[in-house]
Amino acid sequence: MADRRGAFTVDENTLVLGIETSCDETAAALVMGGFDVASSVVSTQVDLHAQFGGVVPEIASRAHLDMLNPIVAQAIVEAGVQEGRIDAVACTIGPGLIGALLVGVSAAKAFALAWDVPFIGVHHHEAHLYSAFLEDPSLEFPLVVLLVSGGHTMLVEMHDHGVYRLLGETIDDAAGEAFDKVARFLGLGYPGGPAVEREAADGNPEAIAFPRAMLNDSLDFSFSGLKTSVMNYVRKHPDVSSSDVAASFQAAVVDVLVAKARRAAVQVGAKGLVLGGGVAANSQLREQFLEGCVVDGIRGFLPSRSMCTDNAAMIAAAGWYRLRRDGPTPLDVGAYPNLRLPFIL
Ligand code: KG4
Ligand code: ZN
Repeated sequence: MADRRGAFTVDENTLVLGIETSCDETAAALVMGGFDVASSVVSTQVDLHAQFGGVVPEIASRAHLDMLNPIVAQAIVEAGVQEGRIDAVACTIGPGLIGALLVGVSAAKAFALAWDVPFIGVHHHEAHLYSAFLEDPSLEFPLVVLLVSGGHTMLVEMHDHGVYRLLGETIDDAAGEAFDKVARFLGLGYPGGPAVEREAADGNPEAIAFPRAMLNDSLDFSFSGLKTSVMNYVRKHPDVSSSDVAASFQAAVVDVLVAKARRAAVQVGAKGLVLGGGVAANSQLREQFLEGCVVDGIRGFLPSRSMCTDNAAMIAAAGWYRLRRDGPTPLDVGAYPNLRLPFIL
């Protein structure tokens, strides 16, 4: 429990308010002890951005401003606690859209000051790494995490809490970005990942042999060639079924992601393989990922879909571990659109 007079300990009763505003979800959550989710509220701006086919930064910032206080209030009410019970406030400080980040960071600092509790700046991707611990804190290290979101695609070795090694990352488009771009090209709408998945459900994944960029033995990824190949194919075959294109594209992405994740786990001698990030909500990826883990005899862990996409419970969880390890973040920390995850292994 936090001691508001200064020194504090971080334990299973420490209640952290998490705040997430890095992109187009305004989210707040209360999490105790790094894993016990007392409430998790996510307000998505998807409808506001859909007509533009992507996130409009200025609209995102204004919507965060409108929504953040009510969402924090709802998280507190749903958790059934008084404000005074909150021991620390954690917030995403990057990477993300600068205006969107600033709304969350300013609010989180204000709450921390007003309640006289520690502020914790959280890296958005570190939080995605922690979504698995929210549901199974007993996961053992070393873990390999395949983090697949709209902005990033990376394989990370988690050696211990806060101790990471980057094993590979995309050299061009992120996997989610490829889903979004292909969805836009096929006229399937926004956000692209779920739209492609829906369209693919009626298609044949073997209809078109799109390329799988394996980049030799590397654990890096490349998806821009695949995206171009989808566009070229559709231009050459205008009557092709878009379900077949969606299913064949999805199969190509999933094959590469799963193959590289399995390879990484073997190389590291991992005790577990974990999925994270928005693309981890994809059913085909989830299924093939778990099948691969069974074949390799390694423990596979899939966070629930609501914990894969952006949420504040993962921010609060990562914040709890960060607070326990490093203590509070100084209040002069800013918001950083291009923040890199500190890889210290
Ligand atoms: O982690 P996230 O919610 O936000 C970022 O930090 O980027 O990930 C969003 C990305 C988007 O590109 C979205 O299209 C993709 O995750 N996504 C999916 C699915 N659901 C979301 N991609 C494939 N299949 C899905 N079901
Ligand atoms: Zn994310």
